[in-house]
Amino acid sequence: MDTKVKLLLVLIATVCVNAVSYRDYKVYDVVPKTKEDVSILKNLLEENKYIFWSYAVKVDNVVKIMVAPEKKDDFEKYLSSAGIDAKLVIEDVQRLVDAQLQRPVSRSQQEYNWDYYQTLDEIYAWLDKVAEDHPNVVSTFEIGTTIENRAIRGIKIDYKKQERPTIGFLKGGLHAREWITPATLTWIVNQFLTSEDTNVRNLAENVVWHVIPVANPDGYVYTFTNDRMWRKNRNRANFTSCAHLGLNDDMSNGIDLNRNFGYLWMTTGASQDPCTQTFAGPTAFSERESVAIANYIYSLQRQGNLVYYLGFHSYTQLILVPYSHVGGADVLSVPNYGDLFEIAAKGAAKLTERYNTPYRIGTSADILYEVSGSGFDWAKGQAGVPVVLLYELRDLGQYGFLLPADQIVPNSEEVLDSLVEIDRVTRQIGYYHYQNGGQILKTSILLLVSAMLFVL
Ligand SMILES: *[C@@H]1O[C@H](CO)[C@@H](O)[C@H](O)[C@H]1NC(C)=O
Ligand SMILES: [Zn+2]
Repeated sequence: MDTKVKLLLVLIATVCVNAVSYRDYKVYDVVPKTKEDVSILKNLLEENKYIFWSYAVKVDNVVKIMVAPEKKDDFEKYLSSAGIDAKLVIEDVQRLVDAQLQRPVSRSQQEYNWDYYQTLDEIYAWLDKVAEDHPNVVSTFEIGTTIENRAIRGIKIDYKKQERPTIGFLKGGLHAREWITPATLTWIVNQFLTSEDTNVRNLAENVVWHVIPVANPDGYVYTFTNDRMWRKNRNRANFTSCAHLGLNDDMSNGIDLNRNFGYLWMTTGASQDPCTQTFAGPTAFSERESVAIANYIYSLQRQGNLVYYLGFHSYTQLILVPYSHVGGADVLSVPNYGDLFEIAAKGAAKLTERYNTPYRIGTSADILYEVSGSGFDWAKGQAGVPVVLLYELRDLGQYGFLLPADQIVPNSEEVLDSLVEIDRVTRQIGYYHYQNGGQILKTSILLLVSAMLFVL
């Protein structure tokens, strides 16, 4: 087929297949000023008439609320009668969705870039290509399959082939619509393989990295084909009417994977209503994705010293420390909370240096909202991984999930800066050491022996 025709078909496919339209959907910034405002907004959140972009409803916290065009008047009237200000910040959400789906026309299909958002097929093809290009260092792996029969795939970077290595696990795309996370992780993989920066080389080569860019492939594909704002997986086992929330029944076709892990499952910040965004599933570990991740973590712990479990989400610019259900003095229920706080604080400070991007740190309960059943809380509380953190990447909500593609690279650069710093602090505290100590010892013995020979 002629390339131009092909291109046209791709364009048409991109434009037509996206079934849910956000044409003329509005986004408002709403700031509750009092406890009464908070409870009014929390009720609104529960009613589900409007689409909250974030669930952190607190005094003086900006809440982004997306409103369908036909509900606009109602929404504005309701808030003004309640005496709460709402500032219109996005006129037409679909325009941002379209912009994000835009692909550079001039590039060949083969060329992988970080100036646009890649589909699942493109990401998987790229993993294969990277493994082919670096056969002695890189291999791909599969941790399981999804209910729609897609592989959950990852990539392993192992320079030194040590017997019981230090291992790091990076995971993105657990929530489907958080497109910046697979983009960031593939960019970081590429840096681990190609960067000439000494710090990045050390980080890449002294840890065996296992990276899963898209932990929720079904959901990710669905955000390209059907609904850009989809968050959950696509398990239809709990299909039901969502009329009570005024939502399309399709909302019930999915489970929030970051509420499905078996640590304090369904205790706070999760729902048993399949129509909600935070439906935790019928039981802990009911989902293939969460089971596959947990089993993979246990297998890594058998292979070596699994030091890092870093989850990547968006948005809000945070580095979260477990546990997500505790705040105040109770944060100390994590035995190494002090270390994790220091690691996160220094990592965030380093991240900010490059582009002045502000990040906050703390537990989710303290700086976002209470959560239970998340993957990273499980990694700490059940699997006992030493350094467990969760990133909420760019931005602060100006675009939210619809972050323009020209922010992929700067976002990824600052995240890599923070990883280097996190690793430096982790080693300084003593969680592990680079294993070139042996080499230094061998060199000194050699020098000593030659010196002795010389003297003799
Ligand atoms: C979801 O589906 C499972 C399997 O059919 C069922 O056992 C469970 O009760 C359902 N849960 C909810 C909350 O609907
Ligand atoms: Zn998320």
